[in-house]
Amino acid sequence: MPRYQTVILGAGAAGLMCAAHAAAGGGRVLVIDHARAAGEKIRISGGGRCNFTNLHTGPENFLSQNPHFAKSALSRYTQWDFIDLVARHGIAWHEKTLGQLFCDNTAKDIVRMLLEEMAKTGAELRLQTAATEIGKAETGFALRLSTGQRITTDNLVIATGGKSIPKMGATGLGYQLARQFGHAVTETRPALVPLTFGDDVMAGFKPLAGLATPVRASCNGASFDEALLFTHRGLSGPAILQISSYWREGDTVTLDLLPGVDAFETLRARRAGAGRKSIGTVLSELLPNRLAADTAARLGVHGNLADCSDTRLHEIARALSAWPLTPAGSEGYRTAEVTLGGVDTAGLNSRTMESTSVPGLYFVGEVVDVTGWLGGYNFQWAWSSGHAAGTAI
Ligand code: FDA
Repeated sequence: MPRYQTVILGAGAAGLMCAAHAAAGGGRVLVIDHARAAGEKIRISGGGRCNFTNLHTGPENFLSQNPHFAKSALSRYTQWDFIDLVARHGIAWHEKTLGQLFCDNTAKDIVRMLLEEMAKTGAELRLQTAATEIGKAETGFALRLSTGQRITTDNLVIATGGKSIPKMGATGLGYQLARQFGHAVTETRPALVPLTFGDDVMAGFKPLAGLATPVRASCNGASFDEALLFTHRGLSGPAILQISSYWREGDTVTLDLLPGVDAFETLRARRAGAGRKSIGTVLSELLPNRLAADTAARLGVHGNLADCSDTRLHEIARALSAWPLTPAGSEGYRTAEVTLGGVDTAGLNSRTMESTSVPGLYFVGEVVDVTGWLGGYNFQWAWSSGHAAGTAI
């Protein structure tokens, strides 16, 4: 029966990174994945250009029941280490906004780079292969593969990702295995996902579909200043994807349509300087036309600004700077970029990602209860946690 030093389940971002580092230590390493190709999520990420890291990555950009857990791995393999790797492979990149780094050409460059790194160290990759049985052996672990072959390994790394985009091979197997080996799994839910609304709210949104505008979206103490996009299904765009990670059923998301602007003072100054303008005209100077018309209709405002009392101006200002919306739900795992929650970090060593109760068992990447913001943070967690386990092995 073939024996490996390390078997890695999942040839995604974290699994490939882990394989290259584990095999560099000299042991026999095998990566298995049921998909037809490795790194499929990398390939489709960032609109095909892969937002592979963020210049500003720090532990504060991640959600976890233990906000300190990610610090060790992130500090020992940083965004600069990954940028260095990308540079060594001659992959051209650019910063888009907010520190987000993208490939100039194609996300496939990143997949190719990881496969080259793996091949250099001699790690093996078997695609279209699943593990049908996984259990403890006398020493290490025993696996039965979908090919019928049985193998054993000293170390088993679970890098099977989260539940998002089942169409692309996401299975939730990692959570099942965690439970099988006695690990707790925190609540999992779709994150970085568009939010949906009831028919009454949607009736107002439908005419706005396709419109993008900068906002500050706030919920449960978190705020993001980014673009919002009205869609036929509800709200999307980076501001909404970001805040969706903080939203729970029943919570209200508050939108500031004039982020960084004091709405009341702005309206008051316009009243003093251009009081004869209609409120509708003033709103369309502050907001995209369709949104201005919708806001005016929502508020039932007409007449000139000069006719507005301070109390009325405050009402209009509040509608612009604190528009409360209660989503009915989210688009779910079908479109979510990531899964929030996962393998409880209380059972893992933050330096090595090894189980504290089952020696030789490791969890890396999205399967762990560490979830990044939108903007390259999730890939950086995959690289950092994969590196932590790979070098520890
Ligand atoms: P990942 O999901 O990459 O890999 C898991 C692997 O395990 C897959 O290859 C899968 O086939 C395999 N697998 C699962 N179950 C299995 C089973 N039962 N048997 C065998 N194999 C199994 N992040 C970011 O930082 N920047 C970005 O630009 C984007 N863009 C983006 C776009 C879209 C559309 C999505 C859905 C997601 C993103 N992300 C992102 C998030 C990012 O893709 C994600 O966080 C990482 O891919 C997670 O890496 P992992 O290796 O943990 O899982």
